[in-house]
Amino acid sequence: MTATASKPMIDKGLASTIAAESAMSYIDGEKGVLEYVGIDIDDLARNSTFEETVYLLWHLRLPTKSELETFSQQIRAEYELPEPMWDLIGNLPKTASPMHAIRTLISALALHDPEADVHSPEANTRKGIRILAKTPALIANFDRHRKGLDFIKPDKSMDMATAFLTMLNGEKPTDTMAKALDVCLILHADHGFNASTFASLVTISTLSDMYSAVTTAVGTLKGPLHGGANEAVMHTLKELNDVSEVEDWVKGKLERKERIMGFGHRVYKAYDPRATYLKTFAKQLAEDTGNQKLYEMSSRIEEIMDEAVGSKGIYPNVDFYSATSYYAIGLDIDLFTPMFVLARNAGWVGHCIEYLEGNKLIRPRCEYTGPHKAPYVPINER
Ligand code: ACO
Repeated sequence: MTATASKPMIDKGLASTIAAESAMSYIDGEKGVLEYVGIDIDDLARNSTFEETVYLLWHLRLPTKSELETFSQQIRAEYELPEPMWDLIGNLPKTASPMHAIRTLISALALHDPEADVHSPEANTRKGIRILAKTPALIANFDRHRKGLDFIKPDKSMDMATAFLTMLNGEKPTDTMAKALDVCLILHADHGFNASTFASLVTISTLSDMYSAVTTAVGTLKGPLHGGANEAVMHTLKELNDVSEVEDWVKGKLERKERIMGFGHRVYKAYDPRATYLKTFAKQLAEDTGNQKLYEMSSRIEEIMDEAVGSKGIYPNVDFYSATSYYAIGLDIDLFTPMFVLARNAGWVGHCIEYLEGNKLIRPRCEYTGPHKAPYVPINER
């Protein structure tokens, strides 16, 4: 059946819909390619920094040395939180999950930003920088609050990964750990119109505001079919005691038609290029931190999955090896998805600014399947 203007075809999950143009990231799902503004993700992971990658995504070119210095200073100048935000963090329930906390806290930042409803591209970029720069202090200090520890303010002399880990752990991370997190942030910074980015675009397309758009995105990222998968992967690995248990566990799940978290992707039907990099990276981190067993179990899951469903194009996605990497860095499992927020702020903000340049309200239609000409029955006759 072909679509007509009056009766478009249903595209459930929007899998075949190209909703707009974007010059930020390119994905070839068949060949397993991901580029940010034409630069291979592997090249960026090896050579760039998160701050430089954010500049690339927002300006669609690499910065000069002085442009990068200015951009870094702009970000670091916004690390500090408005004073009432510290009280808010301190009043959140200690039992709250970090994703509920971070969604609430990013939303609350709008209350303290006089530009919250200023819609110029310049104001949107400034708000984007504020969201990006303040998220590390929000996540790290919510974690400190729930553990009964004193708050630690962000240190402007540090890059974002180092500043975050310093606030989180109360001491400066080793260069290896800070670099590891910085690379993870680069790999997670953008990925086309994924579910959370698309959700942010739906919000911004109503001419709402940047804080609302990012808040929408955080809520969308949280789900286990999207960013929440990295936490689910780790819970699985913790359930397994030994590599020898992996085969029966995977096969049992597949027989029961259950999903193995961290595998499969809507767009990649080849190996997710972010997972290619993370796999090597996770192996090294596991060796450096004595977590080899977790890595060995991950690689065995991958082997069994490859034999069982590799022919269907189901391979590890970015969440699979980021789980073991974050664990090796020493993060609590429920902070894995918040790490995704730290990184994907870059993509959400960049796409919102790009989309607003030629804004069109996102408003699809649905195929009505209910009755017509139904009588209104008074309540006492029903
Ligand atoms: N484990 C086992 N089987 C799977 C998996 C998996 N992880 N993923 C897909 N399949 C199978 C499905 O059962 C289905 O099989 P069938 O054709 O025999 O019924 C087939 O592959 C196609 O699956 P769909 O759900 O139709 O594919 P879709 O493109 O909608 O799903 C998704 C993509 C949601 C990511 C899916 O692969 C999944 O649930 N993966 C696990 C969760 C996960 O890791 N999410 C993170 C994604 S990456 C990210 O968001 C950063």
